[in-house]
Amino acid sequence: MQRRLHHDQPDSFAFTPENRAWAEAQIGKYPPGRQASAIIPLLWRAQEQEGWLTRPAIEYVADMLGMAHIRALEVATFYFMFQLAPVGSVAHVQICGTTSCLICGAEDLIAVCKDKIATQPFTLSPDGKFSWEEVECLGACSNAPMAQIGKDYYEDLTAERLGWILDELAAGRVPTPGPQNGRFASEPKGGATSLTGQGGAKLAQNASVELATTIGDTVKRIDGTEVPLLTPWRRAGPAAEEVKT
Ligand code: FES
Repeated sequence: MQRRLHHDQPDSFAFTPENRAWAEAQIGKYPPGRQASAIIPLLWRAQEQEGWLTRPAIEYVADMLGMAHIRALEVATFYFMFQLAPVGSVAHVQICGTTSCLICGAEDLIAVCKDKIATQPFTLSPDGKFSWEEVECLGACSNAPMAQIGKDYYEDLTAERLGWILDELAAGRVPTPGPQNGRFASEPKGGATSLTGQGGAKLAQNASVELATTIGDTVKRIDGTEVPLLTPWRRAGPAAEEVKT
């Protein structure tokens, strides 16, 4: 697939004030003259804010880092995680199509995307709310088949469940991420067979799902207000030492 800038570009881009502060903090992690090292996190935040990476956003980030625009364009067009065309206004759905997910039904999930979103990947649904693509292993093989929707993983999926999730998202509701078949995490479906005597209170959901539901940023466009800006590397003393180790 050719990775080129989209033919239809907005006139401008600017970080929200909170995202700008976050970006400047990231740049501060690097020594003088090495600001370009922050290129990937800044491009990623620009994409999180807009949904996709526009040419003005790429150039804005390049200017923040004192880089030639072409250098930032090289990075943006190289990595497939950067979306170079508009994605769904509600969510971009990434279906894992690698081995574990494939043998557990990924093709059925892709069929749902073709039916409910668009027959071709990287194409907006008729209402503009969704787009989709097939991706390589997302590292949740023990919960196959799975999809990343926005920031979070929906695991142990069936075609019916994915269809329901898309319907919920279209209606403005965000289904709880994580395993969709009642599993807590990646233990056997019938329940854990080892490490059963750990004690402690049984949590309702695993830590990843807990964080996703607490922050509520699964399909949100990130404006920097979601979590406090923590920059311990800017402080001298024990906190900064902690970050270094
Ligand atoms: S094969 Fe799908 S997450 Fe690894």
